[in-house]
Amino acid sequence: MDEQAGVPRHIAIVMDGNGRWASKRFLPRIAGHRQGVEALKRMVSACGARGVAVLTVFAFSSENWNRPADEVSGLMGILASALGKEVVKMKQEGVRIRFVGAREALAPQIKTALDQAEATTAQCNTLTLNVCFNYGGRWDIAQAAARLSAEGLAITETALTGHLALAHSPDPDLLIRTGGEFRLSNFLLWQAAYSELYFSPLLWPDFDEAALDAAIQEYASRERRFGRTSDQIARDASVPNP
Ligand code: IPE
Ligand code: IPE
Ligand code: MG
Repeated sequence: MDEQAGVPRHIAIVMDGNGRWASKRFLPRIAGHRQGVEALKRMVSACGARGVAVLTVFAFSSENWNRPADEVSGLMGILASALGKEVVKMKQEGVRIRFVGAREALAPQIKTALDQAEATTAQCNTLTLNVCFNYGGRWDIAQAAARLSAEGLAITETALTGHLALAHSPDPDLLIRTGGEFRLSNFLLWQAAYSELYFSPLLWPDFDEAALDAAIQEYASRERRFGRTSDQIARDASVPNP
């Protein structure tokens, strides 16, 4: 899909702040995660409506296993129930779901649910929704390097890029983190090399269409130089990707 004027082709989001959203309301953290699913559904529709081709979200990090066991199992349950309820709707909206991360560590019934969601939506082409689940940027770079090595291939930037778990999508143009923290937390370490970063103080369940539009507007005002100078950019409006 062509990039519409000022609209990022690929938006990546660290959906952070669910726990604090719940705590502020004296609710259990899991209630915040449930509300986070509602925010994600809203964002999928909003991105589709704005002509964004790829939305990549951080749903569960390699490090999130360190959370209390009841929160981890609650998150697994929310994933399974959201897939059960939403996959058919996603298909109707033309959303192709892809899961990105280490699947081997997941319970068999979760793995099956992921496989089924991907198969059901495989022909959809309005928006690709990459759900990073049991994902870490370091894991991704290491597994790509390990596969290259097993295949006896040289480790070049191009070869490594092609072996990353997100190789099917272009690099994100805009990377949003909600929840007021200013860090990547092991998200897309390789692919975010030239992403425009945007930090929102809103907790993820509160992130709405207006907040997305504010992020896109800010993105549209940025000058992406990819190492070049402003003068060069002004002379040649078509900036090649690095
Ligand atoms: C992000 O929200 C969701 C996951 C990490 C699964 P948090 O659960 O990290 O919410 P806060 O940061 O504690 O508020
Ligand atoms: C990042 O949020 C991971 C996800 C949103 C899934 P965290 O809440 O886990 O990040 P830290 O621990 O504050 O860095
Ligand atoms: Mg957090």
